[in-house]
This record gives sequence, structure tokens and C-alpha cells, in this order.
Amino acid sequence: MSRLVVVSNRVAVPGESRAGGLAVGLLAALRERGGLWFGWNGKVARGESGALHEQDDGDIRFVTMDLNKRDLDAYYNGFANRTLWPLLHFRLDLVDYDRAKRDGYRRVNAMFADKLAPMLREDDTVWIHDYHLIPLASLLRERGIGCKIGFFLHVPMPSADLVQAMPDHARLFSTLYAYDLVGFQTQRDVDRFLSYVRLFGGGRLLGDGELEAPGGRRLRAAAFPIGIDTELIARQAKAAMSKQAVRNLRGSLRDRQLAIGVDRLDYSKGLPERFRGFERYLERHPDQHGTLTYLQIAPVSRGEVSEYRDLRSQLEQIAGHINGGHAEPDWTPLRYVNQNFTHATLTGFYRSAAVGLVTPLRDGMNLVAKEYVAAQDPDDPGVLVLSLLAGAADELREALLVNPHDLDGVADAIATAATLSRPKRIERWQAMMEHLRHNDINHWRQRYLEALDAA
Ligand code: G6P
Repeated sequence: MSRLVVVSNRVAVPGESRAGGLAVGLLAALRERGGLWFGWNGKVARGESGALHEQDDGDIRFVTMDLNKRDLDAYYNGFANRTLWPLLHFRLDLVDYDRAKRDGYRRVNAMFADKLAPMLREDDTVWIHDYHLIPLASLLRERGIGCKIGFFLHVPMPSADLVQAMPDHARLFSTLYAYDLVGFQTQRDVDRFLSYVRLFGGGRLLGDGELEAPGGRRLRAAAFPIGIDTELIARQAKAAMSKQAVRNLRGSLRDRQLAIGVDRLDYSKGLPERFRGFERYLERHPDQHGTLTYLQIAPVSRGEVSEYRDLRSQLEQIAGHINGGHAEPDWTPLRYVNQNFTHATLTGFYRSAAVGLVTPLRDGMNLVAKEYVAAQDPDDPGVLVLSLLAGAADELREALLVNPHDLDGVADAIATAATLSRPKRIERWQAMMEHLRHNDINHWRQRYLEALDAA
């Protein structure tokens, strides 16, 4: 089996607590095959960009690269998160494009290629992750790299007409043709990509996800819906019930039910809409008044980008408005928390919540939805309220599916979730859990890597 090389913007370096579910899955693959994980070191470097830091852990080598403020502003805070992120989440209104950002993104990708190319061996398998690094394969090919290179987009692929609105879109999106396999979260993302290829990308569709790029190169596009480490999360959640933070939360509820949301503070997550949907629930269901507390955990994210700062003040305003209008001397309906918690503690919070609220306006997959389900008590599971516009909705059909723009619908789904009978909850939960056990994180990366080997 050839060595695996993983490339992503952030690297889960050993000893850092950032390692989420995805990192766990990728580390397992790297351990099996021996390999290298390459990316940015997550900090703002003082001097020049490009210095490398190496660290070995068994058969895995971690190499991270310094990036300074100028490069990060153009690449990460700029083109990746102010141009591509909104575009890929269907938010043309928020897309901020300029050539300086575009060039900075390309410059940093070229730096990735310059540093990575000399470390690669002829028979390596390279797996590049997410929208930060779309052109990397083409830049590696320009540097003579001929090995298998795959790409996986963790976020949605928007419709061709939206992509068309970005200046110079073809120059960026045609670099995807340098890969051997381009993976997406759902079949709908694949279909949108293929229609882009046909309408604006100059490529030819050969059927079954195969395509021929202008110039004749062939590659494949396919869906690989990402999973979680289902069994691990179930165990973690059970064990987390004895953690002090979880006991404190449960104690503080008194006899009230808990609804929970956990999201990075990002406009794609639909938080203002969710808050308003909750307010609508309070208004439409006076019979449930005082029976349920909603805890929203929203750690601050990408605070250098102005849209994220604006969202933060907007949420503070709405949260204050809701509590001002509906709280009682001994009950605060909405608890809004920017603090971050360990993954293990969150699983205990999920298990304590009768209702899980996951209502993004667009999401590639959304792993909180899956983790909420996996964390439940099999004998007394909570109910997931899930946006139709998250990739996870294509798999978790037994959730209460809502359109996040329909506040009345969200309000009624919360009321239904809070009162669903135990047999019905168990039936829904078991169906979702069976799916999550089968399509877990290990299954995901095995399927992807097999397809890449075969490509
Ligand atoms: C999304 C992206 C990831 C990214 C994560 C956190 O899930 O798909 O690539 O790492 O958000 O965002 P951040 O900007 O903090 O890396």
C-alpha cells in the first residue's frame, strides 16, 4: 500500500486538543499506511512565511508551515473566508472578491506546493482537503508530481449559476481537473459540480461521475458523505454524564427539558433564524411555557472577518430581546454561550438534551447533527430537529426535518420534539443510529481511499 500524504489548511498536530472527529479518522488512515500530514501551523508568524516545523509520532510525520499576517490576510481571512466560503454557502450577497485576495490565495497555494513537492515520493497517494487548497494539485503537477492526488470538499458545491458570478471562476474551478478523484459530501453536490463542468467548465461528462477535461485528462467525481466515530461518541457521551460540567448543567435545569445547539459562530449556521424560531415557539406554544430551556453554544470563529463580528453583535441583540420579553424571575429561556467546551463535555451536553437544534441555512454535512444522535441514551433518546439544507438531511431522514427560513415550522418542530412519545423517539433514533454505525468515519475514509486507488 502506498504512503498516504494528507494536506489541509489546519493540521491536528499531536498534543493539541483541536483534533475533532475528522482528524481521528485521518490519523487512523495515516497510522495504517504510514504517512505525512502537511498544512499551516494555525498561528500568525512574525517574520517571513514558509518556515517548516517537523514532528514525528510513530509512523506519522507532521510538517507545518509558517504563514505571516500578510499572507493569512489574503489567503485565509481573504479569498478563502471572504470570497470562497460565502460563495460555496450560496451567499453571493456576502462574497467579497478582489484580485489582491485572489492572488494571495494563489501565492500561498504555490508556497504549499513548493514546500510539499520535494517531500513527495513517486508512489505516494496525496489527499488534499477543502476549499483553502483547491488549486494545489495543479500547482503540484506543474512541479512534476505525477502520483495519485485526490480532493475532498467538506463544504457544499453551489449551483453553476452562482459560481458563474465569481470573476475568474473558470481559472480556479478548472484546477480541479488536475485531481484523479474529486469527492463531495452528497450526490447533489456532485450533480451541481457536473453541471458546472458542462455549462462553464468546458469538460465532457462520460457518465457515472467520470469526466474528461479540456485537453483530454480524465477524472472522477463522486459522493462520500462523511461520518463520525459513532461507537466512540456513544461511549464518550455515557461516560461524560459523571463530568462536573455536565452535572452542573443538568442540576441548573431543575425539572425543565433542555434544547441544545452547538455551532461555530458562522452565518451559514442560521443562528439568528434559529433564535427567532425559538421565540416563535415561545409565542405559539404558551402551553409549554417554562418547560424547556434552550442552550446555544457558539464559540467565536474567524473573528478577523467583519461579517462574523457583525453576526456576533446581532445575536447578542436578539438573545437579549428574547430573554427580555419572555424570561421569568426564575427562568431564562435562552442561554447563549460563546465559550468553547471539550468534545467529551459536549457529548454529555448532547445526551442531556431532549431536543437537538441543527438548522443551518447551508451546510456541507454538519457533524453536530450526527454526534447529537450518537450521544443519546438508547432507552430515552432526544429528538433531532434538522435543516433540510444540511448535507446530513440526505441521510438522517428520521430527524424532524425543517426549512430554517420557515420560523413557524421551526417553532412547531421544537414543540413536537419536546413532546414526542418515548416509543416514537426510540424508533426514529434507532433508524438513524443504524445508519451512523454503518457509515462511520472509518467507512468514509476507506471508501474514499479505495476509490482514489482505483481512479
Ligand atoms: C469548516 C471547514 C473546515 C474548517 C472549519 C473550522 O468545517 O470545512 O475546513 O477547518 O470549518 O474553521 P476554521 O476557519 O477555524 O479552520
